[in-house]
Amino acid sequence: MPETVIGPDMRHAPKQIPFVPGVSAPDPCTIVIFGATGDLAARKLLPALYGLWRGELLPEHFAIVGVGRRDKTDEQWRAETQAAISKFRNDAPKTPDGWPAFLSHVFYHRADFTTPEGMQSLAAHLDKLDAECHIPGNRLFYLATDPEYFGPAVEGLARAKLVHREPNRPWTRVVIEKPFGRDLASALALDHDVLRHLNHDQVYRIDHYLGKETVQNLLAFRFGNAIFEPLLTRQYVDHVQITVAETVGMEGRRGAFYDNAGELRDVVQNHMLQLLALVAMDPPATLRASDVGIAKLNVLRSLLPIRGDDVARKVVRGQYSAGTVSGKAVPAYRDEEAVARDSNTESYVALRVAIENWRWAGVPFLLRTGKRLPRRVTEIAIQFKLPPLRLFQTVECEGDVCDLREAQPTVLAFRIQPDEGISLSFSAKRPGMQFVLHGVRFNFNYDDYFQCELPEAYERLLLDALRGDATLFMRSDELQAAWEFCDPLLAAWRSAPPTAFPNYGAGTWGPKEAANLVTGCAAVWREP
Ligand code: BG6
Repeated sequence: MPETVIGPDMRHAPKQIPFVPGVSAPDPCTIVIFGATGDLAARKLLPALYGLWRGELLPEHFAIVGVGRRDKTDEQWRAETQAAISKFRNDAPKTPDGWPAFLSHVFYHRADFTTPEGMQSLAAHLDKLDAECHIPGNRLFYLATDPEYFGPAVEGLARAKLVHREPNRPWTRVVIEKPFGRDLASALALDHDVLRHLNHDQVYRIDHYLGKETVQNLLAFRFGNAIFEPLLTRQYVDHVQITVAETVGMEGRRGAFYDNAGELRDVVQNHMLQLLALVAMDPPATLRASDVGIAKLNVLRSLLPIRGDDVARKVVRGQYSAGTVSGKAVPAYRDEEAVARDSNTESYVALRVAIENWRWAGVPFLLRTGKRLPRRVTEIAIQFKLPPLRLFQTVECEGDVCDLREAQPTVLAFRIQPDEGISLSFSAKRPGMQFVLHGVRFNFNYDDYFQCELPEAYERLLLDALRGDATLFMRSDELQAAWEFCDPLLAAWRSAPPTAFPNYGAGTWGPKEAANLVTGCAAVWREP
């Protein structure tokens, strides 16, 4: 890595991170990836580590060690790493001489980490690398394996003394991918297994949505400005819609995992409830992990449980049939690769949620997510109440046809992705002799203000884990509260399997029954 030396005395001073003034770069360390040959490592982790290195956000002395069961040399693994980074990053070197500086930090170790011998051989390998690469033993273990191995991996790490609880020795931390459990009981059991060997502050439970720039901006917008926050209460808000719409289906082998999980476990329990918590939470005391965690937890604990018969009234599940998405014909869910032909797994969920606290009592939160919807868009839209008096109700006539025009509700929309930004839609007077109101918009678009690419979520989260900052990770009690909310829905669905799947066409906004959830709100589902 090119070294920036600012005078001889500065060589050993902590490096300053360019976009976070005053925050030092991580300590020299090794990043160990379990499940290194999997899709997540290729798509996200290796490209993110390259991005951090390129941005000079990794320390001078670091190593990345891929661990897998397959036999490979360092050279083969480096070639795969190079291929993955080239595929998933625009800024990857275009010539061969651009690679060695980064790849010299990349190593492979073949081991079956479910066996004591495997972990011991890894421990010996890491000690050797520490000595060769001048790394003082700090280690971040990233569990990107199948979820069934999360518990055994932590157990194995502890047995081989690769993790320890002592604060004064070189640090050891473990990042655990989602899904963290498949219901409340399994999440609690996993947590128990993990916390037998690690302190709370060594465990980083990842939800990559929290690493998205626009999701973090929710905090900036809400608590960095004084004028919006007082409006976000039951007094002014009619309802809130949260949409996580995807056009993807079960490409590749995704179906093998997904068919056993479904959209509620895959997206609602984590990404959606985290978005809900961030938009609904009270101001945290500070931005420290514990304070933000408590603020989010209070929201999750205030969710009104949906149980028994209520599930059918407040939750709509769906599964897509064949259709057309972005002009391309796509198969039905049940015809996708690695999906059971008679599968009853939901690829769509919409629900009407209530938060029982002083701020939000009585305000519906409408959540909707699904695969093979018409557009990829993640959005949080807060719709405000109409004015108490309809002063501007007017009649507009064109020829014989007359229209009743009312004030349009004001909507504050956070566009999480794509076209990242924030907009405020409101009513204005249309120029002319009549008093006719017209919907208009203030628009903030990231592109207009910041001429830079938004950092990748995984870059931010990896950097935070390396620096020991857990603010953008999930605490175990948050996860627990999220599962407590989701468990009764899963139970109700188990006892009443769907009778009408598939019930929405790929390329549409989901089952028509979802319209019933909006009853009583001054709106219909948005089509962002
Ligand atoms: C993952 C889910 O966590 O998030 C996937 O497992 C989903 O099913 C993905 O497609 C969506 O992430 P993003 O960043 O593309 O919105």
